[in-house]
Amino acid sequence: MNEIARFLKKSWVLYILLLTPVFYLFIPQSRSDTEYLADPAKYLLEYVGLSATILFVIVLMITPLRKIFPKSPIIKAFAFNRRQIGVSVFIYALLHLLIYFAYTGSWSGFVKDWEKLFILSGIVALVLLLVLATTSNNRSVRILGGKRWKRIHRLAYAIMFLLIYHQATQEKTGYRETAKIFAPLLLLQACRIGLHAKYTFDQRSKE
Ligand code: HEM
Repeated sequence: MNEIARFLKKSWVLYILLLTPVFYLFIPQSRSDTEYLADPAKYLLEYVGLSATILFVIVLMITPLRKIFPKSPIIKAFAFNRRQIGVSVFIYALLHLLIYFAYTGSWSGFVKDWEKLFILSGIVALVLLLVLATTSNNRSVRILGGKRWKRIHRLAYAIMFLLIYHQATQEKTGYRETAKIFAPLLLLQACRIGLHAKYTFDQRSKE
């Protein structure tokens, strides 16, 4: 177990794992997918958006997993790399936006789409992801102070709801597919809250 954790902590392993969605696109099978053949730009738009969302769910799962399994070296290895995983969410989301520009073909198309609530939810989520990515370094923690930094990083939960809305309102994915992606995270958060409530209850009964 410790060997796997040590392996996962290596930065080259992390970068290979984070680039897996890109590597997948170079596999010939991915390009023989009927959805890719029908509309490659749309396929890439959805594929990259989904990659960003899955990575986002993984990042948010780390804290509750740490609370539930405090001794697990594998979870500790993921926690060690959390910052880089978080920044990669922003990079994939930005790529999703660039593909969207290529897909709609113009800036005016983007401005027109702005009125659609699901596009607006994506834009707000991306702006908030930018805030988190730019303040994810040690310098920002020092400048902002631990408490304020933590408060800012709670924006991740607002992003979660925006992304649930952004994805669930897609005709193709809908609420059912979105629920499958976010259910493990919501379940872990519920366990975390349960553990915290139990801890508080135990402390109070000791007093
Ligand atoms: C400027 C911001 C954004 C714009 C303009 C935008 C645009 C779009 C569009 C047009 C679609 C629908 C594609 C289709 O026709 O099927 C889509 C789907 C999606 N987007 Fe975004 N998006 C934005 C931000 C984000 C962010 C920040 C994330 C995640 C971190 C994200 C994740 C997704 C996902 C998961 C889907 C559904 C993919 C699927 O159908 O499988 N988007 N987005």
